[in-house]
Amino acid sequence: LGRNIFYEETVDSTQKIAQKLAYEGAEEGTIVLAEEQIGGRGRMDRSWHSPKYKGIWMSVLLRPNIPIMQAPQLTLLTAVAVVQGIEEVTGIQAQIKWPNDVLINGKKVTGILTELQADSDRIHSLIIGIGINVNQHIEDYPEELQNTATSLFIEKKEDWNRAVIIQAILLKMEKLYTIYLENGFYPIKLLWESYALTIGTRITASTLTGKIVGKALGITDDGVLLVEDEQGTTHRIYSADISVTS
Ligand code: BTN
Repeated sequence: LGRNIFYEETVDSTQKIAQKLAYEGAEEGTIVLAEEQIGGRGRMDRSWHSPKYKGIWMSVLLRPNIPIMQAPQLTLLTAVAVVQGIEEVTGIQAQIKWPNDVLINGKKVTGILTELQADSDRIHSLIIGIGINVNQHIEDYPEELQNTATSLFIEKKEDWNRAVIIQAILLKMEKLYTIYLENGFYPIKLLWESYALTIGTRITASTLTGKIVGKALGITDDGVLLVEDEQGTTHRIYSADISVTS
């Protein structure tokens, strides 16, 4: 990964650029990096705060030969790579909140957004957007984010070299991706579960169709979250916001 890097100072969204490159036939492993995003995108149509020089705003193009159903596996794989890369460089042990938020002490340090292009059921490109809060100080965040977001600086009171972190994460990601292509999702799933925050606890999953309260049992091989409600019924959650409920 990263043999082909597109670097820009200011962009609308690295996702958009990567999509265009993918469409034009860019090779697997192509990376788009920017110092600042004016229109950074998050999951569920939210925006992603991407201030200049403060974080890592990056999109990775993959072209795995897998059915669409399995795309979430690669988002989970990416979260594992981010946790491992952050730990290697900073010594901080981050955790994953399903599906793909990376948290430190309960606050969000990284968000991952996967978008894909497919022909019928086969993926022809997968764009994995990774946003990592690196050197922001708490006052750099808009007020509404100050209680829920963190950065590597805030956690360790140290400025970090973003290039070193990018390199560590891409190396981890490449290793995991090779394992994935050779051995399937199972070994990745075990790693993901070892970093997961929400498995085994009582959670509320807010989906587009309503809320489900229950115990998070784990994820399926497709990366779907299983939640058992009070009546003992197991729900398969494909997309939701998760909060821990006591
Ligand atoms: C989330 O909502 O948690 C996902 C946030 C993903 C942000 C990254 S930053 C790089 C890439 N470009 C974007 O516009 N979004 C993703």
